[in-house]
Amino acid sequence: MTFSRAIKIAPSILSADFASFGAECQAICDQGADWVHVDVMDGHFVPNITFGPQTCAAIRPHIKGVMDVHLMIAPVDGYLEAFARSGADFISVHLEAGAHMHRSLQTIRSLGAKAGICINPATGIEQIEYLLDQVDLINVMTVNPGFGGQKFIMSQLDKIRKLRALIGERPIHIEIDGGVTTETAPLCAAAGADVLVAGSAVFSGGSVSNPAPYGKNISALRAAAEAARVK
Ligand code: DX5
Ligand code: ZN
Repeated sequence: MTFSRAIKIAPSILSADFASFGAECQAICDQGADWVHVDVMDGHFVPNITFGPQTCAAIRPHIKGVMDVHLMIAPVDGYLEAFARSGADFISVHLEAGAHMHRSLQTIRSLGAKAGICINPATGIEQIEYLLDQVDLINVMTVNPGFGGQKFIMSQLDKIRKLRALIGERPIHIEIDGGVTTETAPLCAAAGADVLVAGSAVFSGGSVSNPAPYGKNISALRAAAEAARVK
């Protein structure tokens, strides 16, 4: 996988029909998704429960490109191997999910996956500085994690800009997660983001039997972001 800062749209299957994950993944990939974002929640680190590594392994063959697994679980270390085995390309853990995230990131890479670190809206980027050599992706949460369909927190734009400057020429993706719409996507792209996760904004209006709206939504997000991107 060659590194690129081109805009990637990553639909979150949190907004998909949970009874049809395989078909939903195929539908969004056919409709132009670059990555598929997979939200794993434990009902402990976040107040919601989704699914685990077995589900990730089951949907993997239905995803054409990158499977981007976002772990909202604590403790996380004991589960990293299972998620790597499930076929995840990126495995992202939360900075707030434990005392030894440097070690967790090293473990992810040693398992052959790309390593991501996620930061909640209340977390600053100071601690990221000492992780830059350990990460392939930084996920800036623009909602408090746990649920889809929440409102984008505008104060995070300043964080994205600072992070972009901190990263410099390093091959590290900046991913935005939460409340991404055609209104907020350009703001994120202008601030320096390259991966845009979107749940409700991609899945609204469509279904497995009527997937065309997914394609329309993905194209609209991409066009809005690309027009604002810093070249
Ligand atoms: C929130 C998840 C997000 C969420 C985004 O905890 O990490 O990926 O699904 O959903 P929308 O795009 O609806 O805010
Ligand atoms: Zn997510």
